[in-house]
Amino acid sequence: MNSFILLSLFATVIIGKSPRLKFVVHEDSRFHFNKPENYISMYHQEGSDTLYVGGKAMIYMLRFTDSGVRDLQIPAVSDQTAIDTCKAQAAPLELECDNFITVIQKVNDTFIVCGTNAGNPRCWMLVNDTVLTDVQGVGQISSPSHISPQYPSQRAISLPADGSLYSAMSSVGSHTGSIRRTFGFQKLLKTENVWLLNPQFAGAAIIPSSEKYKEEIYFFFSEFNKTARVDEEPYRARIGRICMVDEGGLKNLMADSWTTFLKARMMCGAGNTQQQYNNLKQAVVLTAQDKRAGVLYGLFSNAWGRTVICAYSIEDIDQAFSTSKLKGYSGQLTGTRPGTCVRKVPGAAENQNNIKNLGVLRYHPEIEDVIRPVGVAPLDLPSDDQITHTVADIVQAVNDEHYSVLYLGTEQGKVLKVIHTSEDVFIISQYSLFRNEGPVLNMAIDPQKGHLYVATAMEVQRLPLADCSRYGSTCRECILSRDPYCGWDKSRRKCIAIPPGYNSTTGGIIQNLDHSNSSVCGEAAALKLRRTSPREVLVQYNTSVFLPCPVHSFHATYRWEKDNCNQNYPCIFSGDFCVLGPVVDTPLKEGVFRCMATEDGFKVEVISFRLVNDGRLLAASLAFTLGPSLLLAVATLWLH
Ligand SMILES: *[C@@H]1O[C@H](CO)[C@@H](O)[C@H](O)[C@H]1NC(C)=O
Ligand SMILES: *[C@@H]1O[C@H](CO)[C@@H](O)[C@H](O)[C@H]1NC(C)=O
Ligand SMILES: *[C@@H]1O[C@H](CO)[C@@H](O)[C@H](O)[C@H]1NC(C)=O
Ligand SMILES: *[C@@H]1O[C@H](CO)[C@@H](O)[C@H](O)[C@H]1NC(C)=O
Ligand SMILES: *[C@@H]1O[C@H](CO)[C@@H](O)[C@H](O)[C@H]1NC(C)=O
Ligand SMILES: *[C@@H]1O[C@H](CO)[C@@H](O)[C@H](O)[C@H]1NC(C)=O
Repeated sequence: MNSFILLSLFATVIIGKSPRLKFVVHEDSRFHFNKPENYISMYHQEGSDTLYVGGKAMIYMLRFTDSGVRDLQIPAVSDQTAIDTCKAQAAPLELECDNFITVIQKVNDTFIVCGTNAGNPRCWMLVNDTVLTDVQGVGQISSPSHISPQYPSQRAISLPADGSLYSAMSSVGSHTGSIRRTFGFQKLLKTENVWLLNPQFAGAAIIPSSEKYKEEIYFFFSEFNKTARVDEEPYRARIGRICMVDEGGLKNLMADSWTTFLKARMMCGAGNTQQQYNNLKQAVVLTAQDKRAGVLYGLFSNAWGRTVICAYSIEDIDQAFSTSKLKGYSGQLTGTRPGTCVRKVPGAAENQNNIKNLGVLRYHPEIEDVIRPVGVAPLDLPSDDQITHTVADIVQAVNDEHYSVLYLGTEQGKVLKVIHTSEDVFIISQYSLFRNEGPVLNMAIDPQKGHLYVATAMEVQRLPLADCSRYGSTCRECILSRDPYCGWDKSRRKCIAIPPGYNSTTGGIIQNLDHSNSSVCGEAAALKLRRTSPREVLVQYNTSVFLPCPVHSFHATYRWEKDNCNQNYPCIFSGDFCVLGPVVDTPLKEGVFRCMATEDGFKVEVISFRLVNDGRLLAASLAFTLGPSLLLAVATLWLH
């Protein structure tokens, strides 16, 4: 009986935190690199079918179709003397002495490409999608070393906005790291060295506003205290922000520096406990078109490399930046609050208070308030695999509400699709996409076309965001998927992608995203019990039999029933099967065994076997001698 209790405990533990569905997908729209690309930059313009991938001395221009990928490879080599010089100087980073393409960005209509160029960064323009030329005749550009890092393992962020390019460079060695405007017609600006403590950048985002001049850019990074004691946490997660209208200071006060820079500390962990995740690895922001509302997702790790996601409200962050005291400054502030976005009036004399505030900001750029996650703790996600990359989408559902969907790439090359509602996180599915289990290195999302691009060092693959046909052919299966991209079309009786511009008042498509509850499908549909015809298995006298039940939903409970009796038997998960084996009290000799899956209060029959006590046929005795894995393999063949 002990094993019984243990099994049912196990069954409850895995629900919720685990993906409900697991798909193994090998789409035709995939591209294989000729050689492993361990550092990958990406550029994708929403609405297009082209993905630009930057690798080692190569730009891959990949055109995706549903049937395959056409590629154009644009070489971008650095000369051999540069590589040799680099190798002589950068002993530990020797392997990084090549031209790794780190930046591919379109600023207005100019394609800017930058690479590490063997420790001596260089930028080009990509012309006619094929030719790399020197940057010229299109606004000012600061040094390529402000845009591209020297080595590919040094993380840099670039963000085009309003015809300018904003770049954030992580610190390495004696380089302090910086946030700059590096290209465009606006004044090129930078952070003061003392504002950032060995920053490692994790992302950047434009924060919109109903008034254009109030638009800001948030930069996400971790700061690293080199002199922290061994028992101290050296990392601090940070948000830094600047105004896009910033044109720098006065002639003799912060002339080339941001005058609107502020930074705040972000916490990610359960309340005020010691268990904090301080190393911010990546950040993505979902906002409304022209409103300062939305959510920030941060991917954090702790000292042991465990990764979690924390969610933050953009309103909370905005509130903190516009009201908090400045850390270490106790004086009175008069005039415009430091950090406020102000349109510069040409020729107007500088207000004395504002000059004073500039001095305050210079020495006190940090706000006192600490940014804490919504729901106080990290999102409840599986912990068996680490998250390496994340992208997010905001989806308008049938009920006109907006839902956040996260795509989490993992260390083992999987992609988790997660819906985050105000109440919980629900893991819709897990995709296994790649032949080799390398980590997901980069992803790009195209909400307009409905595509997700996922890259490992070996492959790039494209997936549809609305993958509704995988959920099954019944209303229940469609609704229980809780996928905001999909709904049940009542008239066509199909699980379909919500068409663009769908008007909820006309009805016709049903969804239920807030809970796993398919009562919207109606009772009749749910109660109709499907019977399967039993497959015959001949059992030899005194041998052991293992019966495999293919698992569709990992949130369902699986039980075997014998001869339509109320008595049922638990099974053990093994890969994608729930296996009934010869445990005590299981009369696995003869009779009909049915595997029943129960989810959302409804029981469905998945498969059935009729055991016939024979003695001649080999199937079962083979299983006995060669073990359960072989029988499972045989079963897999039958089921397909
Ligand atoms: C790009 O294409 C245009 C028109 O085909 C051509 O005139 C121009 O020379 C090309 N530029 C480069 C750099 O090849
Ligand atoms: C970008 O385009 C806008 C409007 O189309 C223009 O005003 C601006 O000068 C352009 N910026 C650059 C850097 O080309
Ligand atoms: C870094 O840690 C040391 C040791 O705790 C501390 O004295 C110092 O103030 C810290 N530096 C910063 C910038 O926080
Ligand atoms: C949806 O349809 C209703 C009735 O046909 C109409 O009144 C309403 O304006 C439509 N809503 C949108 C957002 O198009
Ligand atoms: C099956 O029967 C044979 C012969 O009676 C016996 O030697 C063997 O131990 C039995 N195996 C099991 C698993 O009971
Ligand atoms: C599903 O929702 C219906 C209506 O809101 C409710 O009556 C029912 O108890 C729910 N079912 C489950 C399994 O929660």
